[in-house]
Amino acid sequence: MNVHDSEKISGILSEAGYQPVDESKKADVVVLNTCNIRQKAAQKLYSDLGRLKIIKKQRPGLRIAVAGCIAQQEGRSIFKRFPYVDFIFGPNNIDSLENWIKNGSQFTVHGSRLTALNDNPDYHTKVLPLNRIGRVKAWVSIMYGCDNFCAYCVVPYTRGREKSRPVKDILAEVQDLAEKGYKEITLLGQNVNSYGKNLKEEMNFPDLLKVLHEIEGIDRIRFVTSHPKDFSEDLVRTVKDLPKVCKHIHLPLQAGSDRVLSLMNRRYTYIEYKEKIDKLRLEIPKISVTTDIITGFPGETEDDFEHTLNALREIEYDGIFAFNYSKRPGTRALELPGHLDEEVKSRRLSKVLELQELITYRKNRELEGIILEVLIEGVSQTDPEKLTGRTKTNKIVNFNGEKKETGLTVNIKILEAKQHSLFGERVN
Ligand code: 5AD
Ligand code: SF4
Repeated sequence: MNVHDSEKISGILSEAGYQPVDESKKADVVVLNTCNIRQKAAQKLYSDLGRLKIIKKQRPGLRIAVAGCIAQQEGRSIFKRFPYVDFIFGPNNIDSLENWIKNGSQFTVHGSRLTALNDNPDYHTKVLPLNRIGRVKAWVSIMYGCDNFCAYCVVPYTRGREKSRPVKDILAEVQDLAEKGYKEITLLGQNVNSYGKNLKEEMNFPDLLKVLHEIEGIDRIRFVTSHPKDFSEDLVRTVKDLPKVCKHIHLPLQAGSDRVLSLMNRRYTYIEYKEKIDKLRLEIPKISVTTDIITGFPGETEDDFEHTLNALREIEYDGIFAFNYSKRPGTRALELPGHLDEEVKSRRLSKVLELQELITYRKNRELEGIILEVLIEGVSQTDPEKLTGRTKTNKIVNFNGEKKETGLTVNIKILEAKQHSLFGERVN
C-alpha cells in the first residue's frame, strides 16, 4: 500500500515537471514516504533525515517533505527534531503535494513550514497521477482507511476511517491500465471485503470483481487484504466462478489462540477462521492460502503460542508473513499487561518461520512435474539469463527466456521446487 502511495507521490512530482534522480544529493525535492506499521519501518526515517541534513546544509534550496503514516502520527513534532523539513503530509493528503510543489518558491522564501494532516473527507474521490513501477501488473486502490481497530495496529489512526472509492473511478483506472497493456491488477484495501459500505450505489466487493472481470485485456485480478470476519461465502463463489480472479487468498490469522485473538480485537475464533478456510478449499481445492502472524503479543503464553504453531501445522499455508509484536503509539495493546521481552518474541518468531519453511517447501515440492500457467513479469533479478513470473496461485516461477516475452502468459512445467520459488521449463 505504501509503495503504491509512492507511485502517486512520484506521479504528482512528474506532472509538476520533476524528473527522478538516482541520488538524493542531486535532488531539488525529496519526499520521504514512511510506514509506521512496525518500529523497524519507523527507524529508517530518522537515519534518512540525518543524511539529508548534511545535503541541505550544502544546498539550502533542497526542499524536504515527509509523507505517510509516521508523518500523520508524529505531525509537527517532526519539525522540532528536524527543523530543516519543509512539509509534512499524511497518507490521506497526498493530493496536497501538488499545491506545495506549485507554491514552493513562496514557502522557501518565507522559510515557512507546512503540514497537511487533516481529515480530507473527499480524498477517496480524488484521481491522482501515477508513476507505476511495473508494466505488466499494477496496483489499484479500491478503498482507504480501516474501521477495525485491531489492538496492535496504527492503521485506523494514521489512515483514518474506511472509505471506498467510487466504482466509476476504479473502472476508469482499470480500463486505462488495460489500454496501456497491463495484464494483471491487484485491488488494494485494508479490508477489501467491506468494499462499498459508504457508497450511494448498491455495490459490494464480489459485485466489483464481477464488473472488473468484464474489462478486456486484463487477464488476472488479485486483491489484498481480506479480514476473516468479512470473508463471505458470496466472495468464495465469486472467486471460484470468475476465471480471471487469481486462486490465491491472503487471510491474516495473526494468532492461533482464541484468548489472544480476543485481546487483539480480531472478532473471530480460530474455529470460525478454520471453517472459512475449509469451505474455501472445498469449493476451490487448488487455491493457495497465505497469512500474517504476529508472535509475542502482550500476554501471549507458551500455551497460546503453541496454538499458533498448531494452526500452522493444521492449515498448512502456502506462505506466511510473520512479525514480532511491535509496540505502536496510540494503540490499545500498549496498555495491556504482560509485554514480552524481545528475546522471547524473537525466539517464537524463529520457531514460526522454521516450521513454515518446512511446510512451504513441502507444498512447493508437490508442484514438481505439474504444468502451470505463468504470467511473465520480466527478467529475474538474481539471474539475468532467466525470466520470472507468477502462477495464478502467486508462486514465483523462474525459467529460461527472453526479455521481450515480458507480459506473455506461458505454460511452464515445474522441474524443481526451491524454498521461495519454482524452477521450470516451457511446454506447449
Ligand atoms: N506489530 C507486529 N505486526 C503488526 N502488524 C500490524 N501491526 C503490527 C504490530 N504492531 C502486522 C499484521 C498485519 C500486517 C500488515 O502487519 O500481521 O496483518
Ligand atoms: Fe490494522 Fe486490523 Fe485494520 Fe488490518 S484490519 S489495517 S490489522 S486495524
